[in-house]
Amino acid sequence: MSVDLRTRYLGLDLANPIVPSASPLTAGLDHMKKLEDAGASALVIASLFEEQIEHEELEVFRMLETASDSTSEASSFFPELKDYRIGPDAYLAHIQQAKKSLSIPVIGSINGASEGGWVRYAKLIEEAGADAIELNVYLVAADPDITAEQVEARYLKLVRVVKESVNIPLAVKIGPYFSSLAHMARQLVEAGADGLVLFNRFMQPDIDLETLSVDPSLQLSSSQELTLPLRWIAILHGTVEASLAGTTGVHTAEDALKLILAGADVTMMASALLHNGPDRLTEVLKGVDLWLDEHDYESIEQAKGSMSQRNVADPVSFERANYMKALTSYSTPRQWGSDK
Ligand SMILES: Cc1cc2nc3c(=O)[nH]c(=O)nc-3n(C[C@H](O)[C@H](O)[C@H](O)COP(=O)(O)O)c2cc1C
Repeated sequence: MSVDLRTRYLGLDLANPIVPSASPLTAGLDHMKKLEDAGASALVIASLFEEQIEHEELEVFRMLETASDSTSEASSFFPELKDYRIGPDAYLAHIQQAKKSLSIPVIGSINGASEGGWVRYAKLIEEAGADAIELNVYLVAADPDITAEQVEARYLKLVRVVKESVNIPLAVKIGPYFSSLAHMARQLVEAGADGLVLFNRFMQPDIDLETLSVDPSLQLSSSQELTLPLRWIAILHGTVEASLAGTTGVHTAEDALKLILAGADVTMMASALLHNGPDRLTEVLKGVDLWLDEHDYESIEQAKGSMSQRNVADPVSFERANYMKALTSYSTPRQWGSDK
């Protein structure tokens, strides 16, 4: 490869900007090894969830408290977690093993929303050897009595608590649903985030018309979803003093390149790897290298942020400006005929 693909993310020197994000692919060593061999420069381990930690604590409490009865409400509450996810101790052991078997940096991930004792696991993840930690605040703010300010205060408190408990770099993965995202981003950085991961992809529940049940619908992303993180990385590049990771919709080299030009330090992949296997990562990496070479870039650093909001000729194009232009330039499909 002729282009210098190195990048710096969360203070870590990475060989290139392609990082598998948390998914089932980073829950087991075999898959992680394949991702490293395919060229991943680091990886984010599948999250340890607040519910898993609390479930385990609840179980211990229940065992101590009563001669437990297997039909109790507590044990039926988390059936799927038992099947799919490993518990906190196994999670920490998984990080230790990953550190032993892989030579790329390993980022641990905790996922939750409440101000519970679960955040102390950040420290344990550090002790297990993780190079950095990603805090995924996954909060659906559905309570009409809770204000936006209170929700934001909760995020900031979580970030502060985690930051205070660890010495390794901290990335915060958030969703896009804030009234003033740029302000929130700045506050998160002031609270201690060394990096922002944009964006969490919320699973939207669906209604099954046959069973009349509400089901979580897990669908993989497509490249069409890239434009949301693209816009915000372009806006935030150079305005917050933190690393930026783009996640959601990175399926091709073109997708990764767009995020890098917008200002991402790394681009993360989950759906495309789940769907296409580890070779997709190698293809993306080769494609990024080739495009940069053909367009006379010497390095990722040179390309990074060159199309951010600050650096484009028409900065308002990342805000409202193009909205009316896009709507008015849409031509009504022919089957409607002319409207006089
Ligand atoms: C099956 C599956 C499991 C995931 N598990 C986690 C997780 O444990 N923690 C987390 O922060 N994100 C998790 N994610 C979200 C991904 O890391 C990623 O941010 C999201 O899928 C958007 O990226 P993509 O478009 O490349 O899929 C998961 C995604 C999928 C599809």
